Amino acid sequence: MTLVWCTGAGKGIGRAVVKRLVQDGARVAASARTRADLESLASETAGAAKPYPLDVTDEAAVRDAARAIEADMGPLDLVILNAGTHTPLTAARFDVATVRRIMETNFMGTVNPLAAVLPRFIERRRGHIAVVASIAGYRGLPSASAYGASKSALITMCEALKPELDHYGVKLTLINPGFVKTPLTDRNTFEMPFLMDVDAAARRIVAGLKSKRFEVTFPKRFTWGLKIARCLPYSLYFALTRGIGERLIESETERSRP
Ligand SMILES: NC(=O)c1ccc[n+]([C@@H]2O[C@H](COP(=O)([O-])OP(=O)(O)OC[C@H]3O[C@@H](n4cnc5c(N)ncnc54)[C@H](OP(=O)(O)O)[C@@H]3O)[C@@H](O)[C@H]2O)c1
Repeated sequence: MTLVWCTGAGKGIGRAVVKRLVQDGARVAASARTRADLESLASETAGAAKPYPLDVTDEAAVRDAARAIEADMGPLDLVILNAGTHTPLTAARFDVATVRRIMETNFMGTVNPLAAVLPRFIERRRGHIAVVASIAGYRGLPSASAYGASKSALITMCEALKPELDHYGVKLTLINPGFVKTPLTDRNTFEMPFLMDVDAAARRIVAGLKSKRFEVTFPKRFTWGLKIARCLPYSLYFALTRGIGERLIESETERSRP
């Protein structure tokens, strides 16, 4: 039976993926900070998803959790590094604390568990690591200066690790979702193109994990457009994003009016 560790398992995409994996017969170590979310997940999965509450930004706690999970449940087969956060950040309100919090959670919060499991997987010459980044990491988008930077850092890190991990027999999957309806996107005030239901997203992710693909991205009709935009020269790319930036400034000005 597959043993999975999933971070960010309490809500949204992580929770839906864990439920789907349990339906497929997996046992899961489920991590997030909110213990109540993990306990309700455990009862909804008849104990197949076991709570390991932690903060992914705490390197020592993450290392201890990896050790405890393997001691309690056995050697991990699959690790899904999904915990993440998002706060829109405009140029006018750009601040260090927000950037640091987003980079700590999204980037270092992936690096910490990755560093905890990599030596084990490399030594065993097996294991599967999945990193949840985002299509927001493809190129800079207005309001996503911090979030997009954290996700493009993850994409680059995965691309850099892939050839060596192939050599060691460790599988690496990069997951780049489009917009998915979760507590994270419920905070967005703009209309999200091709917004997907969380269970449909979880279905795509679990199918992608079973495939040989390096990148799992969806919905295709949205993400292929963005892949093409990735290749555009700056003059054309900024012609596309300028309007978004201007609308952002207008709505910020509107909101700040007394
Ligand atoms: N929803 C989308 O449209 C979308 C699109 C592309 C990529 N993504 C990525 O997909 C992942 C999941 O997103 P989501 O939409 O499901 O978000 P979500 O609904 O906000 O859920 C995020 C999960 O991560 C956990 N988490 C946050 N900070 C944490 C920390 N410091 N330590 C441990 N756990 C932490 C949260 O639980 P606690 O707060 O209890 O810790 C929660 O369980 C994120 O990496 C996000 O960037 C989402």
